[in-house]
Amino acid sequence: MSNAYYTPGNQRAGKVNDLFARIARRYDLLNDLQSFGMHRNWKRRVVKLATATPGCRALDLCCGTGDLTFALARRGVETTGIDFSAQMLAVAAQRQKRNSQIATGNPQFIQGDAQQLPFPANSFDIVTVGYGLRNLAHWESGLDEMARVARPGARLIVRRLYFAHLKMSVPLMGWLFCGDASAYAYILESLKHYPAQLAVAEKMRQLKLANVRVINLLGGAMAINYGEIPV
Ligand SMILES: C[S@@+](CC[C@H](N)C(=O)[O-])C[C@H]1O[C@@H](n2cnc3c(N)ncnc32)[C@H](O)[C@@H]1O
Repeated sequence: MSNAYYTPGNQRAGKVNDLFARIARRYDLLNDLQSFGMHRNWKRRVVKLATATPGCRALDLCCGTGDLTFALARRGVETTGIDFSAQMLAVAAQRQKRNSQIATGNPQFIQGDAQQLPFPANSFDIVTVGYGLRNLAHWESGLDEMARVARPGARLIVRRLYFAHLKMSVPLMGWLFCGDASAYAYILESLKHYPAQLAVAEKMRQLKLANVRVINLLGGAMAINYGEIPV
């Protein structure tokens, strides 16, 4: 299926932005329904892999409504979440306002492009991206940027869904929540164009990351790519 939402380049960024602007207020519910609540465990797994300890600095790319950002910050990590969608960030800000500082860990949220991070090199000990890399016009430049802003010894973690899992649930969710299955089906289309977890691992090796690993969950329906900046 060809879908107007999947057009590489700058035009695509606008389309992706429109999509998340539309679903922002329902995003957390959608996430719970699509994963049957399991995304919470997967996020805990990411935080554990990140070795998130007080005193570290973390950056969460494509942070959306902030789930992973909050989880890292609650560990006492000085955490920044970055996303280009004002609407997704507004939901994150509401969550932060509604909950106590202890519950959120008080992270900072900023609006910006994951492909052009507004940080100098060697800034973070942990750099994560959850369900986000595939949305970028050029996922490789997202990984380049992750590596650039990471310090020696930093952990880079990419969490992604595998196409087969969403094939069933996404059109249904699109119909239920957007009333526009074709707009939401962009996610399916982007997953088709997004390379398998092995390509991400390969790119991590090209970036000379150490301890590169792919952790498949749910029989590969979900995968976590892990790599470290050599010391
Ligand atoms: C599927 S959501 C993931 C949200 C969150 N990380 C999670 O795990 O629930 C993808 C997010 O990527 C953001 N995004 C897409 N392209 C981006 C870009 N080029 N720069 C920054 N954020 C981007 C979208 O606005 C959206 O909030």
